[in-house]
Amino acid sequence: MRLSVIGCGYLGAVHAASMAELGHTVVGVDVDAHKVELLSRGMAPFFEPGFEEVLRRNVDAGRLTFTTDYAAIAGAQVHFIGVGTPQLDTGAADLTYVDAAVEAMLPHLGKCADRPEIVAGKSTVPVGTAARLAESIAPTGATLVWNPEFLREGFAVKDTLDPDRMVYGLPADEDAAVSAQAVLDDVYRPILEKNKPRLVMDYATAELVKISANAFLATKISFINAMAQICDAAGADVTALAGAIGLDDRIGKRFLRAGIGFGGGCLPKDIRAFQARADELGVGRALGFLAEVDRINDAVRHSVVDTARRMLGEDLAGRRVAVLGAAFKPDSDDMRNSPSLDLAAEFAELSASVVVMDPAAGPILAARTDLPYQITESIEEALTGADLVVLGTEWKQFTTFDPARAAELVSRRNVIDGRNSLPREAWKAAGFTYAGIGRR
Ligand code: UDX
Repeated sequence: MRLSVIGCGYLGAVHAASMAELGHTVVGVDVDAHKVELLSRGMAPFFEPGFEEVLRRNVDAGRLTFTTDYAAIAGAQVHFIGVGTPQLDTGAADLTYVDAAVEAMLPHLGKCADRPEIVAGKSTVPVGTAARLAESIAPTGATLVWNPEFLREGFAVKDTLDPDRMVYGLPADEDAAVSAQAVLDDVYRPILEKNKPRLVMDYATAELVKISANAFLATKISFINAMAQICDAAGADVTALAGAIGLDDRIGKRFLRAGIGFGGGCLPKDIRAFQARADELGVGRALGFLAEVDRINDAVRHSVVDTARRMLGEDLAGRRVAVLGAAFKPDSDDMRNSPSLDLAAEFAELSASVVVMDPAAGPILAARTDLPYQITESIEEALTGADLVVLGTEWKQFTTFDPARAAELVSRRNVIDGRNSLPREAWKAAGFTYAGIGRR
């Protein structure tokens, strides 16, 4: 099938390459000429394990092209929208890019020989957006479907080609819904053949599935971080607690890792946008707990500074702090809302001498000249002379680093494990004073 994908960020570029991998002919459109240039040469504009291989293979096979010209979408049967919905100052989602994408698509829709032609929204949008966009698209004869994406950075290709479930938000008109569903089934045939659940619902529910899933995940993380505070106060261990409660199937083990909290381009903005939309709908109080989820997430980052003060004394000025990790999670170079970078900035603000190391995000930071901390290329360099080591992102390079070697390099043996991911006993055995989150 001929497909187009509008927006070539983490979501769109991975979707475009993955659809080409399924055998479709795909054109990706983005307004960023530099990104289009890189993608056209088979080069990933961001760090995502496994993505570049799939990209290059399909670009080389001639199934996958990229352009800044919207005219290239004409004639494709399905057009996916994968542009960003960042956060406005009010907390609400900024729909500028979604609206601009639809506006730019309109003149090129209705030109496909195969019917029906589908526009499939994948971006995370406030509930009600799909119904509004369907009206703008209707005159072209194309049908809108809301088909949210649940991919995690670091696992983006796998999550696209082997998802837990597919969600189709279909139009109210039954005939239109049946034929749109058949077209999407054709697109995703190889995935559906693996018996992946495909759930069919209305637009509003499909939009809400995505945002409520992220709200739930954020809540789960803040829940365990709240328990971490209780464990700290009571002298208990949150990792043992999480392991024990997680064995109850109703609770589940995953997303119960206490640490310096959630970051990234999705969870923080999505809970705020969800709250803003609920306010607009007059049911803001129903989501009041999300403000608390956000507050806990913020507080846990700052608690690290308190721990640092207990270790080094009240005044952190001039203390050398090695922050291991800058990306919001391992296997990513994404630093949006990164808890570790926030911490690095907070230590720098307190006049500590901060040095940051990150295997993927480090080179991006190193190109900047406006940072209040130093960037190093190696773990050893970061640790040299440190008064305190802070693990902010649980990259494997960090969690497997030999604590005995670390002990030789640092000035003072203090470590704060912001992700509860270091082998605690080994670091203690190497002479470090160890503090995790919720495991005093
Ligand atoms: C998230 C959702 O998981 C995904 O389904 C959605 O499509 C987009 O948003 P992503 O932002 O890539 O994906 O990251 P995720 O793996 O969910 O992690 C988010 C943050 O939570 C990271 O900062 C991570 O370190 C943190 N986290 C995760 C915890 O602090 N504890 C946990 O137990 C799990």
